[in-house]
Amino acid sequence: MKFWLHTYGCQMNVRDSEAMESLLLGAGHQKALSESDADLVIINSCTVRQKAEDKALGKAGYLLSTGKKVGIAGCAVARLGDDIFKKLPRLDFAVKPGEFTKIKYLASSNDPLAEHPPTDAFSAFVTVMTGCNNFCSYCIVPKVRGPEKSRPFDDIVQEVEHLASTGIKEVTLLGQSVLKYPNFPQLLRRLQQIDKLKRIRFTSAHPGGCTDELLKAYNECDKVCRHIHLPVQSGSNKILSQMGRRYTREQYLEAIAKLRAFDDTFAITTDVIVGYPGETEEDFEETRSLMNEALFDNSFIFKYSPRPGTRSAELADDVTNEEKQRRNAVLLDDQEKRGLARNLALVGSVREVLVEGESKRNKTRLSGRDSGNRIVIWPKCENLPEKGSFVNVKILDAHAQTLFGELA
Ligand code: 5AD
Ligand code: SF4
Repeated sequence: MKFWLHTYGCQMNVRDSEAMESLLLGAGHQKALSESDADLVIINSCTVRQKAEDKALGKAGYLLSTGKKVGIAGCAVARLGDDIFKKLPRLDFAVKPGEFTKIKYLASSNDPLAEHPPTDAFSAFVTVMTGCNNFCSYCIVPKVRGPEKSRPFDDIVQEVEHLASTGIKEVTLLGQSVLKYPNFPQLLRRLQQIDKLKRIRFTSAHPGGCTDELLKAYNECDKVCRHIHLPVQSGSNKILSQMGRRYTREQYLEAIAKLRAFDDTFAITTDVIVGYPGETEEDFEETRSLMNEALFDNSFIFKYSPRPGTRSAELADDVTNEEKQRRNAVLLDDQEKRGLARNLALVGSVREVLVEGESKRNKTRLSGRDSGNRIVIWPKCENLPEKGSFVNVKILDAHAQTLFGELA
């Protein structure tokens, strides 16, 4: 059968899709050239917000109407259970995140989390933990992804060693709350020793894991990228406490101040929810001021949406949609200015960049990322650097999301 995988949601889902692809290939199926060329389309779904779930289910409904075989995997399946067949009666199958090996019926694998499809890439995702025990009041993830489970240390090291031996230069360690991996700093130190591996990233991190121990590991491990995605969600202590985040505004700011004191180009990005139940104008202004103090390099702003079965879904969703929209726009506008100022401060400096290939917008330019995960663009020159190699780029100009330069 020719299959096509369509992925929504976070990197966890991207990684699960890779593993499913590998299992399907192992079972003798072929990857289709495009969605329209496929006999079977598998939608790997997300349910973190209602909009995300609607998108995935809408896509599945459309594909079913074209007569294709369609399966759904991922978090929406875990949330809806068998009810998904009520919404999509003609659906061929549905598998939850923890049970995606069923996708094959076909192949068998001892360690499905370690499956990788063949690729010419230089960067790979590696799962280190699955599930989440945090139970933040608004979040459906613990319900759909189950409790935290860590993979054995040696399995992870072996997998990364293998990936590095096939030409992978950069790994991103994945977990819903990756800093809770038992002795995470030790894992970083061990991976630092893998010669051919050049960069180590990880996501997603709960601020509670941003400890002095982690800072020590950063200090010792130059391959660990100087970027952290540290979702803050709110700047109001009242809202943070109601969300069950287990840190205060002050603790959050203190943790990131340490990272920036260690390296002032350290990139810190975040997620914020606007319009949580009971969020007043003052609460919102506290989020706004925290974001300015934190000098976030980038941020993702989400309008609160209640997820059935979570604690906050019991509360009145009392901030109007117009007000959520307004708060969202204010924070995006702030971020645009702040991101630009942060990036302009790098003009004149030289950044080490991992080459990703041609810029999507302009084929006469190359594109890559620095250690802070910033996109860097520079003109092509005669000796084209290979995809996956490192070059030094002198930064000449900046936008809020992009740095522009020339080979140094
Ligand atoms: N409503 C809005 N945003 C949410 N997020 C998680 N749950 C919700 C929800 N119910 C956001 C958080 C999280 C990101 C992945 O999605 O900011 O960090
Ligand atoms: Fe979406 Fe969360 Fe599932 Fe990731 S873990 S796909 S963000 S619901």
